[in-house]
Amino acid sequence: MELQGKTAIVTGGGRGIGEGISRVLAREGANVVVMGRHANEVEAVSVAIREGGGHALPIVADVTDWDSLKAMTKAAVEHFGGIDILVNNAGIEGPPRLAADLPVEQWDEVLGVNLRGIFLCCKAVLPALGARGHGRIINIGSIAAHRMTFFGSVDYTVSKYGVEGLTQHLAWELADQRITVNSICPGGTVTPLMEANITPAFRDMVTKRLVPLGRMCTMEEIGEAVSFLASDRAQMITGQSLAVDGGILTGFGEDLRPVVRKRMADVAAAGH
Ligand SMILES: NC(=O)c1ccc[n+]([C@@H]2O[C@H](COP(=O)([O-])OP(=O)(O)OC[C@H]3O[C@@H](n4cnc5c(N)ncnc54)[C@H](O)[C@@H]3O)[C@@H](O)[C@H]2O)c1
Repeated sequence: MELQGKTAIVTGGGRGIGEGISRVLAREGANVVVMGRHANEVEAVSVAIREGGGHALPIVADVTDWDSLKAMTKAAVEHFGGIDILVNNAGIEGPPRLAADLPVEQWDEVLGVNLRGIFLCCKAVLPALGARGHGRIINIGSIAAHRMTFFGSVDYTVSKYGVEGLTQHLAWELADQRITVNSICPGGTVTPLMEANITPAFRDMVTKRLVPLGRMCTMEEIGEAVSFLASDRAQMITGQSLAVDGGILTGFGEDLRPVVRKRMADVAAAGH
């Protein structure tokens, strides 16, 4: 129970990787603020944590909405007495498109959630993190920030490169407040949404070609890495980017551009 007595906010905590992170942090004793846009999702994860003996507070908020983030910070401090850990997990991806076909609106929306959203969350939570005289910010990036993404479009790739820059800059800026800032870059991670959107055949093909350890990550495995960076064992780690990807970044893999282009064409033809 390494995080006993600590309070963590997990954005997008009601589903997918955010749910995995919330559950692992709660297992380690943290009070978890499960934040997301959908009440049913954040409440369901909070109920599951409480039924397991943990502490959770569901909060409906949107990382693009400043007022909702200020209200989230206030509610978290009132309920748990302070904030020690901010996990910026909420992120979106539009339908995959070649740059020439990418609607500008999609660029704005993806950058608005994945990058501006993290900046807004940090800005809203920092006064409370600073008040404790220590803190952890852990940003969920992507291996797309280190190698071209094989699923997403240029907007997603750029947003995740931005997360790395934001992580580096804040690590330097906040070090004298003893706040560490790191990113975790998941490789392909199995979530209910991924299982609904990608056929098992496509997933197996990509895994076989690109993942040396032979399978995709689980949501909980991303949570374990977050838990480590949030713990006292990681006090001297800041400004780092940790890939949890089954080894994808060790090699160049295959050139999947033909596969990616075909998938983009298939998605567009299906009217998405
Ligand atoms: N699943 C993967 O293979 C994978 C790989 C690399 C990186 N990632 C990153 O991990 C993070 C989580 O992805 P996931 O696969 O679990 O996705 P997901 O869609 O299953 O979950 C994302 C969560 O974020 C929430 N969210 C979206 N926009 C929001 C907003 N404006 N305000 C508040 N909450 C919002 C959603 O409601 C949802 O709960 C994302 O940042 C994603 O880019 C995922």
